[in-house]
Amino acid sequence: MKEIVEPLLKWYQKNKRTLPWREKTDFYHVWISEVMLQQTRIEAVIPYYKRFIHELPTVFDLAKVDDDRLLKLWEGLGYYNRARNLKKAAIIIVEKYQGLFPKDMDQALLLPGIGEYTASAILSICFSKKEVTVDGNVLRVYMRLANCYDNIDNLSIKKRIRSSLTEIIPIKSGDFNQAFMELGEVICLPNGIPKCDICPLRNQCKSRTAHSFLEIPVRKQKALKKNQKYTVLLLVYNKKVALHKRGDVGPLKNLWEFPNLANKYSKEEVLQYLSDCSMKVEKIEKGVSHTHIFTHLKWEMESFIVTVTEENTLYVWEDLENIIKNYALPSAFQPFLNDLSKNRRI
Ligand code: ADE
Repeated sequence: MKEIVEPLLKWYQKNKRTLPWREKTDFYHVWISEVMLQQTRIEAVIPYYKRFIHELPTVFDLAKVDDDRLLKLWEGLGYYNRARNLKKAAIIIVEKYQGLFPKDMDQALLLPGIGEYTASAILSICFSKKEVTVDGNVLRVYMRLANCYDNIDNLSIKKRIRSSLTEIIPIKSGDFNQAFMELGEVICLPNGIPKCDICPLRNQCKSRTAHSFLEIPVRKQKALKKNQKYTVLLLVYNKKVALHKRGDVGPLKNLWEFPNLANKYSKEEVLQYLSDCSMKVEKIEKGVSHTHIFTHLKWEMESFIVTVTEENTLYVWEDLENIIKNYALPSAFQPFLNDLSKNRRI
């Protein structure tokens, strides 16, 4: 594996992408970008990253940000606990470490939301520590280089790769880690044919010679996603729409949603339900449907737009402009908000 270091670094120097978090290598910028990159493609992260840094330019700003504003900045990225953990960790960094990131791996790992991946990315990119980052790209590239058919969902593989790369990681450890990940993103592609003809590691790659690159990496069969059905109620009164805050268990905990019922219901069944809740209905019509895919779940959602005759205290009632501006509404519910606002349904 030692022979890969030089060509990889050379390739990176020449081809690395210009990305906003590469302008400065202070821990705050690297940290925010790496957490966002764990869940979304690079191109999609850029606008989120820029807005986040514009609104919260330092770790001190993040430590004192209001929770609603933080979640609004994260709206659409998913995995909202990661945003909550960013703030928790920022508070500790400010209070315990005077606003500086702990340079020691063991201490870094004690911060909320900071695992081996994020800690090693920050420590290598910002402080040239010889810590290896192992993400999905690194796993794939490494297994192809070695023509290894071991199952990468096996937890011991990550450990094995980390310890193997620790032996060869150079002083420019941040460049090495980023080069490895970037090679996986732009050359050694996960879906489709890898671009072996322009790969800087083509001479070292055993799977290229063995023509096995489409069979590697080997993964476990993914478990089928659990299917759940919902009926979303877009309750409207006087141009205001009812919002409900989710409870603190299950997916999207403590985030806002439109009121909804588990399972699919007909218009008549919805009217019966609303009558049971003492809500008088002026008009009811079918709204849009949307299927939302989570990591382990699939929500099949249908909606009704219901004009009611008065507000009640079961919900918070807000006009569309205010919802769009101030409420973190998860992506699962955005199509219903879009339908109301873009199609002028109310
Ligand atoms: N993917 C995630 N983080 C990355 C980084 N810092 N450079 C390249 N690709 C990445």
